[in-house]
Amino acid sequence: MKINIAIDGYSSCGKSTLAKLLSQKLAYNYIDTGAMYRSVTLYLVNEGLIKDGKIFKETVINALDKIDVTFQFNSSKNQSDTYLNGVNVEDEIRSPEISSLVSGISQLREVRQKLISLQQKMGEGKGIVMDGRDIGTAVLPNAEVKFFVTADLDVRSQRRYDELKSKGYEYSFDKVKENLLERDHNDTHREENPLVQAEDAILMDNTDLTIEELVAKSYEIVQAKLTK
Ligand code: DC
Repeated sequence: MKINIAIDGYSSCGKSTLAKLLSQKLAYNYIDTGAMYRSVTLYLVNEGLIKDGKIFKETVINALDKIDVTFQFNSSKNQSDTYLNGVNVEDEIRSPEISSLVSGISQLREVRQKLISLQQKMGEGKGIVMDGRDIGTAVLPNAEVKFFVTADLDVRSQRRYDELKSKGYEYSFDKVKENLLERDHNDTHREENPLVQAEDAILMDNTDLTIEELVAKSYEIVQAKLTK
């Protein structure tokens, strides 16, 4: 039997790493829904449809039909890469520019409707680990296991700071923290599918856990469900 696993949580709380490692352990497909919102944002930037950080709703809505986001397994990395209209954009969508614009795009109802329906199709065959902000509440409300991951803001800021530094971006710790706070606010306060813990989600506080401990704990919960 295969099940669906929904993982939601704040930015940089370790949920993507958890989702990736858990999917590998279970031989399930991993769907990074944040990558889909990032890809839509990248398309708009590349086409010059976001100017000086300004987002025009009608322009975005008109562009949606021209945007196709898919995932393809990359065996050398043992994980899926994100493709925007057939082009691998896995690295480009993680840039600070896209990170700062994506929450504005992800607030638009039409964008969410399009991506949620794609995500629901991806979940139809089961055997999926999907991470995002609204997976347990809106995308896969019937997922058999739901996790809601949190971690202390300073711990998350440090992780994000280290990650950016390793990619060659120079930002101060305070700037990184400020950006995370802003994204938390946007994610939890938007009208459409805000980030909220689903009633039946299991809270995983990742502040004092290593990633190995987090994966082991989650894997145990999934195994208990599978053998029930
Ligand atoms: O997980 P991430 O940082 O790659 O997500 C990028 C942005 O997309 C983030 O600002 C929140 C938004 N997002 C969302 O609104 N719903 C999702 N299911 C996933 C991401």
